[in-house]
Amino acid sequence: MKWEQDILLMLDQRILPNQEVWLELTTYTDVVEAIKTMAVRGAPAIGVAAAYGLALAAKHSVSKEQASAELAASRPTAVNLFWAIDRIGRLPDWNFESVLAEAKLIEEEDLDMNYSIGRHGAELIGEGFNILTICNTGALATAGHGTALGVIRTAHAAGKNIHVYTCETRPRQQGLRLTAYELIKEGIPFHSIADSVAASLMRAGKVDCVIAGADRIAANGDSANKIGTYALAVQAKHHGIPFYIAAPTSTFDSSLANGDLIPIEERDAKELTHIEDVAVGPEGTQVFNPAFDVTPGDLIAAIITEDGVYRAPYSF
Ligand code: MRU
Repeated sequence: MKWEQDILLMLDQRILPNQEVWLELTTYTDVVEAIKTMAVRGAPAIGVAAAYGLALAAKHSVSKEQASAELAASRPTAVNLFWAIDRIGRLPDWNFESVLAEAKLIEEEDLDMNYSIGRHGAELIGEGFNILTICNTGALATAGHGTALGVIRTAHAAGKNIHVYTCETRPRQQGLRLTAYELIKEGIPFHSIADSVAASLMRAGKVDCVIAGADRIAANGDSANKIGTYALAVQAKHHGIPFYIAAPTSTFDSSLANGDLIPIEERDAKELTHIEDVAVGPEGTQVFNPAFDVTPGDLIAAIITEDGVYRAPYSF
């Protein structure tokens, strides 16, 4: 994302890596649409986008309440979205300059938090580690550097000689499309795998740790993240491999006692039945397509934040 001449420029994540197209968002409703359709995605990036969306609303004299309500209704699971909207909502003034300044601050702070997460997390990474990850938690999903991918970036930069397995992440393929795109740009060695390969890699002793991001972390450490994350945590537990969550504290929702209370988004059936607009399932197929699942805190060896590394039992 870039803010230039009062326009929010956004690299369209729906068509990466094959096309690098920058969308020009000029109204808050453009931002609502970009979040809903996942042109921008990843919990921290959604929060930053919503903050800029509110700046666009203030610029066009749209009421704070209307713009906040529409942005809040764009996606339900990532708490960073609501965190950013609340933070802007608490500003004493609803005017373009002050909302824009706060949006820029939210973006800068997210980047700083990610560097800190990277530093803390890299301490858990040994020389020559094979790290398995899911979805995309990198620069695309945040203000920059990334959370789980930020740990990987920092460990790589520290010369730890790491190698990454990135799960494809069906149905939207954020791992295959976006994480691979970022890893290639960074020159970090990796293999992409189909999601179903993870357990056998672990059994073969080829995974030293799993690191995932989070969309919302409840008070007891239960963490919602991309669908498939829970399966990885169960598999990691079975094989005695540490499973880590990396997330900024803006992803914590202490108002929820546990993960059962986290709202889980269900998305369009077409995400599963179609690939690149081509139907692969028979017409009339009924689909259950949750975008996220919840990993219980007791399966999480550590939660890596900008403040440091937390271990179970969690209490946030
Ligand atoms: O549906 P998405 O692509 O927005 O889901 C993203 C994830 O699940 C990420 O792992 C999470 O938001 C953390 S991003 C730093």
